[in-house]
Amino acid sequence: MSQNERDSFQSRIGLLLATVGSAVGLGNIWRFPYTLGANGGAAFLLIYIFCTLLLALPVMVAEFYIGRHSKRNAVGSFRALVPGTAWKGVGFIGVFAAFFILGFYYVVSGWTLEYVFQSFTSSFSNKSVEAFHSEFTAFSTTVWKPVFWTVVFIGITHAVVSVGVKNGIERAAKFLMPLLFTILIILCIRSVTLPGAMAGLEFLFRPDFSKITSSVLISAMGQAFFSLSVGMGCMITYSSYFKDKVNLQRTALEVTLIDTFLAVLAGIMIIPAVFSFGIAPTEGPKLVFITLPNVFGMMPLSNVWSAIFFVLLAVAALTSTISLHEVATAYLHEEHKVSRKRATWLVSGGVGVMAIISSLSFGVLKEMTLFGLTFFDVLDYTTTKLMLPFGGMLICLFVGWRIDKKILKAELTNKGTVPFYFFTSYCFLIRYIAPLGIVLIFLNELGLLKFLK
Ligand code: TRP
Repeated sequence: MSQNERDSFQSRIGLLLATVGSAVGLGNIWRFPYTLGANGGAAFLLIYIFCTLLLALPVMVAEFYIGRHSKRNAVGSFRALVPGTAWKGVGFIGVFAAFFILGFYYVVSGWTLEYVFQSFTSSFSNKSVEAFHSEFTAFSTTVWKPVFWTVVFIGITHAVVSVGVKNGIERAAKFLMPLLFTILIILCIRSVTLPGAMAGLEFLFRPDFSKITSSVLISAMGQAFFSLSVGMGCMITYSSYFKDKVNLQRTALEVTLIDTFLAVLAGIMIIPAVFSFGIAPTEGPKLVFITLPNVFGMMPLSNVWSAIFFVLLAVAALTSTISLHEVATAYLHEEHKVSRKRATWLVSGGVGVMAIISSLSFGVLKEMTLFGLTFFDVLDYTTTKLMLPFGGMLICLFVGWRIDKKILKAELTNKGTVPFYFFTSYCFLIRYIAPLGIVLIFLNELGLLKFLK
C-alpha cells in the first residue's frame, strides 16, 4: 500500500476519541479496581499515578513520534527509521504482545456480554452478595457459555477491523465514549452514598506507605503501561494514521489525563461498594463482576442501569480490542503483503485459539499451570508486568539515544509551528529517568536489588 492510500483519522475529535478509546477499556474499569484492591489501596494509587506520568506518558509521546514520522505499522516503522538494524525486534515483541493480551482480554470482554444478557433475563434486586458471587463462579467455570461470548466478541472486533480505521473505529468511538463517562459518574454517586462507603474512600485515598512492596511497584508500573496502551506499538500504529497537523504532545497529555481520570472514577465506583457490601478487595479478576450487580440491585430500575452499563463497558472493551487487533493486522498487511481481509482473519483465528484456552483455564483447564499461574494469568503476567515495561524501555532508549534531537523536535512541534516548552526535560526523561526507573523496578521484583520487601 503506498503512503497516499493509507487510511487516516479525519477529525481532531474523532482521532482523540479513537485514541482514548484504545486507552480506556477493561484496563480502567475491570483491571484497575481489582489490582488496586489486591495491592493495598491508596499507596498503589499514588505509585500508579507516578508511573503514569514519569514512565508511561513519555513512552506514549515517543510512540507518537515513531508512528507519525514513519507512517507505518509497529514493525515497519523501525524498518523505515533505522533500516537493517535489530530495532525492528521491538516491533516484533509488540506484535506478540498484541496476541497475548487479546488472548485474555477477549475472555473478560465476553463476560461483559454475558452480563448484558443477564440484565435482560434475570433480576438483580433482592439477591444476596453470596448469590452474585456463586453465580459468577458458576458461569466462569463452565465450558460453553463463556467460550460462546468470547467468540461473539472476537466476531464483533473482526467485523469492525476488517472495515478499516476510518469507517469502523472512529465512528464507533465518537458517540459512545461520552456516554460511558456519564454513566460512570452516576454509578460513582450511587456507590459513595451506600452505607459504610466511607471505609472504601479511605482505602482508596488515604495511603498506608507500609503497604508498598516490590509487587506493588511492578503491579502499578504494569497497570500504567497497560492502561495507556503503551509499550507494544499500539500507539505507533494509531499515530501512523494521524495527520501532520495533529499536536502530538497535547494529544498524549489529553489521552493520559482522561484515561487516569476514568480509572480513578472506576475506583470510586467500585471500592466504596466493595466495603459497603463486605466483599474482600483482594478478590482479583472477578471483583467488578461480583460488586456491580449488588450496586445495581440497590437502584430503582436495576436491570435498565445494568444493561446500559454493561453495553457501554463492552463498547469500551471493543474500542480497545480493535486497537490491539489493528497492531497485528497492520503488521501482516503491510509487511507481508497479505490482503487486509486475510490479515484480519489470520489474527482473529490465532488469537481465538488462545482466548478459548484462557477462558477454559477458569474451569476445566484450571490444573494446567506454569509457576502456579493459569493460562489466563500467564498471559496477563507476561504482557503487563514484563513485555510492556520492557518494550516501553526499549522505545525510550530508541527515541532518546538513537534519534536525532533536531528531527525529534521537528516532529513533536510540527516543524516549529506548535511550542514544546519542556523539550529538554522530555529528552532527559526518555534518556535517563524512564529507562532507569523501569530497570530498577524490574531488578527489585527479581530480588536482585532489595530496596523493598
Ligand atoms: N489500554 C486498554 C485498556 O485499558 C487495553 C489496550 C488496548 C492495551 N491497546 C493496548 C494494553 C495496547 C496494552 C497495549 O483496557
